[in-house]
Amino acid sequence: MQVLVIGRGGREHAIVWKLKQSPKVTKLYCAPGNAGIAAQAECVPINEHSFDELVAFAKEKHIDLVVVGPEDPLFAGAADAFEAEDIAVFGPRKDAAIIEGSKAFTKDLMKKYNIPTAAYETFDNFEEALAYVRKQGAPIVIKADGLAAGKGVTVAATLEEAEDALRTIMLDKAFGEAGDKVVVEEFLQGQEMSILSFVDGTTVKPMPAAQDHKQIFDNDEGPNTGGMGTYSPVPHIPQSVYDEAIRTIVKPTAEAMVKEGRPFRGVLFAGLMITPAGPKTIEFNCRFGDPETQVVLSRLESDLSELFLATVEGRLNEVEPKWSDESAVCVVLAAGGYPGPYNKGDVIEGLDLASESVVFHAGTAHDKEGRIVTNGGRLLGVTATGATIDEARRKAYADVDRIRYEGKQYRTDIGKKAL
Ligand code: AMP
Ligand code: GLY
Repeated sequence: MQVLVIGRGGREHAIVWKLKQSPKVTKLYCAPGNAGIAAQAECVPINEHSFDELVAFAKEKHIDLVVVGPEDPLFAGAADAFEAEDIAVFGPRKDAAIIEGSKAFTKDLMKKYNIPTAAYETFDNFEEALAYVRKQGAPIVIKADGLAAGKGVTVAATLEEAEDALRTIMLDKAFGEAGDKVVVEEFLQGQEMSILSFVDGTTVKPMPAAQDHKQIFDNDEGPNTGGMGTYSPVPHIPQSVYDEAIRTIVKPTAEAMVKEGRPFRGVLFAGLMITPAGPKTIEFNCRFGDPETQVVLSRLESDLSELFLATVEGRLNEVEPKWSDESAVCVVLAAGGYPGPYNKGDVIEGLDLASESVVFHAGTAHDKEGRIVTNGGRLLGVTATGATIDEARRKAYADVDRIRYEGKQYRTDIGKKAL
């Protein structure tokens, strides 16, 4: 089987790394990929959004399966573009990717089908939104409706912060059209947990839970990022709560999408808050998480290409993914200054010394001399497995210490909540 993976982050590196282990995969391409992916797949310099070029490439190379990593191309219709040419593609169509693309759509869906989530109201008028926020009081959560690269959400501790967020989104249009509508949401308290599931329409095959660390600094301080590290499993959240989340949230959502005439095929990512009243949905994503994928796929014992094909062909009910009992920890190494402005082109050294983990690349590139250099905000996901979270942490951080570059930035507390 010849496979084309679309994307350039740590998530796509983990997908490529896992597919590379499959005896069924004879050739792997990645568009556009990164310096780490280049060691395992042939990288082709086509942008994630150049659908015509991607489809032409897939036809020319007789690609048997396309895997779309990021949400933006999915929301723009990447899966539809390949399907239109009869090319098998893993990832939801545009009309199902909306589950991530529009928070207002998803909140309404959850209300209609009684899927647990925070109470909310949607507004397209600033004055009405402001009046509602003042009536509700703080803490309160303000979200831009559309895609805002994870930056459209404000968890406001005070009324002032909430009003500022409304102004930034609705009047200053900081996120463009994504801010035409806002969702104002009840503040939920509890532990967060991510559950990713393979979904082929009606059949749901959940993956083990993972926990992300969104803030840039230790102890969950500082601004939000794309994710600074993950671990799996999440031992302090009981199996019964995980089972309840699958029963009350993930499966009903897949069924709801079928009933709405928008069957979801791909990875459905449920971001959950475990509240005293049980698990509630914070968000859905229409793709693998980054860096959740790095830890979850590190624990997958089954052939990923078979799971992808079973999803695409609507026969997930015939397969049972096997997961290792080991724990996995991923520590993200970021560029100095991230999530604000950062440097590019700094040489990364010591990658060859990392011996206790798998180092997934994200924002890396080769320079003219063939050295690996920084080329983004999140650079590497140092991912180790072990009998316990503690052991996996020790191995990951040992390799983190071996990697050097200017402005190296990472959290020292990934996985600590599980200890
Ligand atoms: P989102 O982009 O929707 O995942 O939100 C980003 C982060 O904001 C989440 O990971 C949570 O930490 C936080 N958040 C979102 N919604 C709520 C809520 N209703 N209550 C508390 N925290 C929230
Ligand atoms: N790590 C969070 C996400 O992928 O959305």
